[in-house]
Amino acid sequence: SSATPFFWTGPACMLLSLLLLLLAPLCVTTAQDEARKPGHVSVIILGSTGDLARKYLWQGFFELYTNQVNSGHSFFFYGGGLSPANKSSLVLFEILKAVNCPKDVSKERCAILKEQFLRLSRYKQLKTLEDYQDLSKNIQKQLQQEDMAEAGRLFYLSVPAFAYAEIADRINNTCRPSKGAWLRVVLEKPFGHDFKSAQVLATQLGNSLKDEEMYRIDHYLGKQVVANILQFRMENKKHLHPIWNKHYIERVEIVLKETLDVKGRIAFYDQYGVIRDVLQNHLTEVMTLLTMRLPLNLSNSREVLTNKLNIFTSLLPLSKSQAVIGQYQAYQTEVQHELNKTKDHVSLTPTFAAVLAHVDEAQYEDVPILMISGKQLDERVGYARVLFKDNVFCLQNKMVLNYPAILVSKNVFKPVVDSEWKEVTEHKDKNITVLGLPISDYYVQTPIVQKEAYTELISRIFAGRQNSFVSTENLLASWDFWSPLLTGITTLFPRVYPGGNENKDMLDIAVKGRDLSYINEVVLIKQDQMGGQNVNNFQVMQGKFRSDEMVSGWTEELIEKLASDIEEVAEKAILESGVFHLAVSGGASPLALFHRLALHHFSFPWKYTHVWIVDERCVPLTEFESNFHSLHDHLLQHVKIPYYNIHPMPVQLNQRLCVEEDRGTWQYEEEIRKFVNASSFHFVLLGVGYDGHIASLFPGVKPEDHGENMVVLTESPVKPHQRMSLTFNAINKARKVAVLIIGKYKHEVVIQLSRVKEETTQWPVTWVKPEKGSLVWYMDYEALLG
Ligand SMILES: *[C@@H]1O[C@H](CO)[C@@H](O)[C@H](O)[C@H]1NC(C)=O
Ligand SMILES: *[C@@H]1O[C@H](CO)[C@@H](O)[C@H](O)[C@H]1NC(C)=O
Ligand SMILES: *[C@@H]1O[C@H](CO)[C@@H](O)[C@H](O)[C@H]1NC(C)=O
Ligand SMILES: *[C@@H]1O[C@H](CO)[C@@H](O)[C@H](O)[C@H]1NC(C)=O
Ligand SMILES: *[C@@H]1O[C@H](CO)[C@@H](O)[C@H](O)[C@H]1NC(C)=O
Ligand SMILES: *[C@@H]1O[C@H](CO)[C@@H](O)[C@H](O)[C@H]1NC(C)=O
Repeated sequence: SSATPFFWTGPACMLLSLLLLLLAPLCVTTAQDEARKPGHVSVIILGSTGDLARKYLWQGFFELYTNQVNSGHSFFFYGGGLSPANKSSLVLFEILKAVNCPKDVSKERCAILKEQFLRLSRYKQLKTLEDYQDLSKNIQKQLQQEDMAEAGRLFYLSVPAFAYAEIADRINNTCRPSKGAWLRVVLEKPFGHDFKSAQVLATQLGNSLKDEEMYRIDHYLGKQVVANILQFRMENKKHLHPIWNKHYIERVEIVLKETLDVKGRIAFYDQYGVIRDVLQNHLTEVMTLLTMRLPLNLSNSREVLTNKLNIFTSLLPLSKSQAVIGQYQAYQTEVQHELNKTKDHVSLTPTFAAVLAHVDEAQYEDVPILMISGKQLDERVGYARVLFKDNVFCLQNKMVLNYPAILVSKNVFKPVVDSEWKEVTEHKDKNITVLGLPISDYYVQTPIVQKEAYTELISRIFAGRQNSFVSTENLLASWDFWSPLLTGITTLFPRVYPGGNENKDMLDIAVKGRDLSYINEVVLIKQDQMGGQNVNNFQVMQGKFRSDEMVSGWTEELIEKLASDIEEVAEKAILESGVFHLAVSGGASPLALFHRLALHHFSFPWKYTHVWIVDERCVPLTEFESNFHSLHDHLLQHVKIPYYNIHPMPVQLNQRLCVEEDRGTWQYEEEIRKFVNASSFHFVLLGVGYDGHIASLFPGVKPEDHGENMVVLTESPVKPHQRMSLTFNAINKARKVAVLIIGKYKHEVVIQLSRVKEETTQWPVTWVKPEKGSLVWYMDYEALLG
């Protein structure tokens, strides 16, 4: 047999695919197998002027209408919503006017169909119980007018999930169709947040609707390639059956890579994260379609759903060591901004996850099943592949095909081409490679007509094809599988990745036995760099970090070390020049230092010390958010420092904040020039943000941007946006710069920084390089070692 070619060995990232399914943009074919007698159909869309309805639903229902117009059925479409009709009718009308005819419909016919569709659609306020009763009356009236039997009622709930239970209850109480007609209620995810909440929701819905009346949409199941997986497996059974097992399959990969971020959706996303958003539903569905036992009869919904359920019950429980998570770098500031949080707020929500699953069946014993998805990756693509070879997964391998397709390596077998699919033999660019192999090494097939997933699913709802939807049983089984992992990772810190092509190999992962890990676990410090000291035996250790001096210890010892180092520098400076110039930054990190200085260093020469501010928010100094206010509260008011030695940043001038014409930056620069010899501070204390920022110099900024200036106004992604800040130029003139990093949530930043060799705008702290002075990193063990 043709067994040998499957076992390939080769360099990492040059893998041979046995079979590769692209889930690229689109979806499947119309099913017109609604076998029942023609009758009147009422379609009610709730949330009919929302985003989803506007983009996909009305288009889908219009295509349903155009397909069914000669079927003998009659239709009426109600666009439901909470606002009154006199407010939303016009909005709905505009949406309906924008629907497009399928390609095979002529212009003239299209105009007629659209005209009819508009006539058969109406906005209906659906807020109170009376509104629903009124809807039911409307439907009755319509039935009488048409003098037709009722075929069914289709409710599409495009509303937030918390509203489901009440709406379902109202539907059950007021809008059930007459006997013999069907009721179908379509629900959109999220179907809960974990097993418990999904169960609560399922129970509530179960009080009002029968299982067969619920259609839970996973739009992935409408994508053409996904919708065709079982069919494909069936048609190619002769070739696939002998090799669809652990002896041949090296592993299965199900991947959805996205380039977008989640800006604007954080209020939702931060509660969910990538596992709930993508893995628990879309990727899990694809996984079950690839691994489930083939049903004897594909059209038998019961059999399909049961076989699917069997996979869930055979999945081995997931542990933490079978997942890695990541978060794109800008996410923290987006969260702080959109959720109105302070800069101390840390979100651990993953925007990237790779998870390793195993099916506990003899057929798939020890076959790794990888499910991977993330935002802000290098390309937008979705695929599933079943393949042979080694255990390295290289995320940066390019996909390039931008149409839905099924690919089979030519040395595996030649697949059957279904009637609604066609083979692609001519490729625009002959030497493109797909996951490391030339396109010419694959048999490629693609759907003849590309369709939107929603359009396809709507036609399947109409056809009553439940196997394309998520049953209650399968939903709960999926949450049962995912919930323990979700609970397990709530306190894990995701690896921070810069985004896009910058990610390089940072998210590449390796399978080792039953475990999954990032390939590049960075070794921060070798024993010899610690001077042979052992973490447990010494309170404070010295070492090197990014080729500069590093001091580390448990938090309290570290802070004490920093405080005494500052005092030493102060004594020396005063001895030399009679004065000590100290510039400090805001944020949470230095607070412990301020306390230490105020409460334990009574001999500190405050009388000769000038205190400067590294950066300030554009708020009055009396406000809680002001860095100066915080410095004053935690330090200045507790020590005897002459008030003319204190130099707050002039953010408020002429009764306004940070206005360029008021020349506050210029004024601070003049003050520095006047007091500080050669504008060279003796000591500058910096913190480093989760995104790598220092002072108020955020990712994206370069030293050149500020020329010779020492003080500038900048924009923060976190409120309040406007800031005044020292520049790299001013900081790098200092004799000594200390970067203080404490807390385990900074560990990922430390890892990243240890990897970055060159200066980069992604990590502003890398531009800190005192020209004549020295840089010292003060990191506590939690930040250093995680
Ligand atoms: C819509 O109708 C309600 C009463 O049904 C009325 O109070 C409201 O002013 C109307 N709004 C507009 C924009 O006409
Ligand atoms: C629907 O409502 C009726 C009473 O109005 C109730 O008996 C029934 O249990 C409810 N649920 C279902 C699924 O029919
Ligand atoms: C497959 O199942 C469908 C739906 O249950 C049924 O109508 C059809 O007759 C079945 N086909 C075979 C060959 O059993
Ligand atoms: C942000 O939070 C602050 C303090 O909690 C509050 O005063 C302010 O109104 C909030 N702003 C927004 C836009 O929610
Ligand atoms: C295709 O291959 C040729 C020769 O190997 C090369 O010169 C050309 O740049 C390639 N084209 C692309 C788009 O990679
Ligand atoms: C000012 O700094 C320069 C070096 O930059 C040094 O030579 C000089 O002695 C300093 N002056 C005072 C008064 O400390």
